[in-house]
Amino acid sequence: MSPHSIPPAPAAYRTLDTNGIRSFLAGVPTLAARLGGPAARWRIREVSDGNLNNVFLIDGPAGGVCFKQSLPHVRVDPAWKMPLDRTFYEAAYLREIRPCVGALTTDVLHFDPDLFVLVVESLDRHVVLRRGLMEGGAWPDAARAVGAFVAHGTFRTSLLAAPFEEVTRRLDIFSGNRTLTRITVDLILTDPYRDHPRNHWISPDLDRIAAEIRTDPRVRRRVGAMQARFLTCRQALLHGDLHTGSVMVSADDTRIIDGEFACPGPIGFDCGLFIGNLLLHLFACRDADGQDRAVRDVAQFWTSFHDTFLELWHTATRQDGNGDAYAAALFRDDPSGLLKAQADFMQDVAEDTIAFAAMEIIRRIVGYAHVPDFDTIPDMAARAERQGTALALARDLLAAPGSTTSIAGLIDLARDRARRYP
Ligand SMILES: Nc1ncnc2c1ncn2[C@@H]1O[C@H](COP(=O)(O)OP(=O)(O)OP(=O)(O)O)[C@@H](O)[C@H]1O
Ligand SMILES: [Mg+2]
Repeated sequence: MSPHSIPPAPAAYRTLDTNGIRSFLAGVPTLAARLGGPAARWRIREVSDGNLNNVFLIDGPAGGVCFKQSLPHVRVDPAWKMPLDRTFYEAAYLREIRPCVGALTTDVLHFDPDLFVLVVESLDRHVVLRRGLMEGGAWPDAARAVGAFVAHGTFRTSLLAAPFEEVTRRLDIFSGNRTLTRITVDLILTDPYRDHPRNHWISPDLDRIAAEIRTDPRVRRRVGAMQARFLTCRQALLHGDLHTGSVMVSADDTRIIDGEFACPGPIGFDCGLFIGNLLLHLFACRDADGQDRAVRDVAQFWTSFHDTFLELWHTATRQDGNGDAYAAALFRDDPSGLLKAQADFMQDVAEDTIAFAAMEIIRRIVGYAHVPDFDTIPDMAARAERQGTALALARDLLAAPGSTTSIAGLIDLARDRARRYP
């Protein structure tokens, strides 16, 4: 991690245990009323399963809430100190995005700026999509819902939908999310392409492909360009950590959670992270049906994102829009010119998506934080072989960007390479 000073925690900050959580919730009338009954009857259980924060679900006689608190360090590595402001950004993101995406995410019920506590709706009927996929479940609506989420959230926070004063005011706030953006820059965009002690992989069988990825000059050029793209292309407000662990699903509902990495950036970053995780799942699938579903999910996510985004754009243009980029006035007498401009825009998003998907695949196999999807393959040599195939696909996508420029092309290539496994 690059050196940066960590501001001291506010004097009032303390990490709450279950007793502390109970009295904290009892002290906020709206939350106490939502839970109902006497506080002593509330059931509190820890569900933290990520790297960063404490997360608890609390059930009362009347309802439930989800309690999330930042710690002054990485949850799974107390030696890795970290400022507390990540729940502030998650709360701010939810407040910005909720009016655009409706019930595809959760309501902020409360934020405490001294304790860095965020309380949101409890999704206790839901499971985390990654787990649901690993257990072989079919979630036929999830990918489409995530595509709609990205389309609404990014379109509405982009210069296509609003004047630059409004857009930049919002993006400037999230430019302050430097702690977690630094993690993205280091862990996703940099570490796998250099020797770094945080990098690790499951088998020496992957040494060669990991070294090829680090040393291929074509990969370096493309990665350098994507680093610049991530840091300079303030296209919209991103979720910033949109993997299958940031989506919760039930039989009839999909919610996107965990927006603490929210930052300005290229729309293809959110799309690429989600698709990258679906492709990781594809390479970990043990049966042909699961593979078919993974491929279908990539296609449905992209179609949903693409079509919803363009629909929003057409509607804004018809209503004379008020965005300062691709301003409606430019195309009033030139509808075919607008169609062409839109196609070019979406092509750029697709190409960003493919590159960021490849980088997500790479960092989730040889970087710091791996995905558990491959844990379902008991034989380590078989697991490493699948990971090697996924890494080779990602390497090829970065080394020869011109060879796959559409999501349909990406799907064909991935399906072809994964076909040998089930
Ligand atoms: N609103 C919610 N309702 C029910 N369960 C939730 C809710 N939000 C989070 N969870 C559960 O808590 C877990 C951790 O939440 P979350 O991913 O937000 O934490 P995190 O510390 O930010 O994780 P990461 O290190 O992966 O970023 C989730 O995987 C999920 O199981
Ligand atoms: Mg998180």
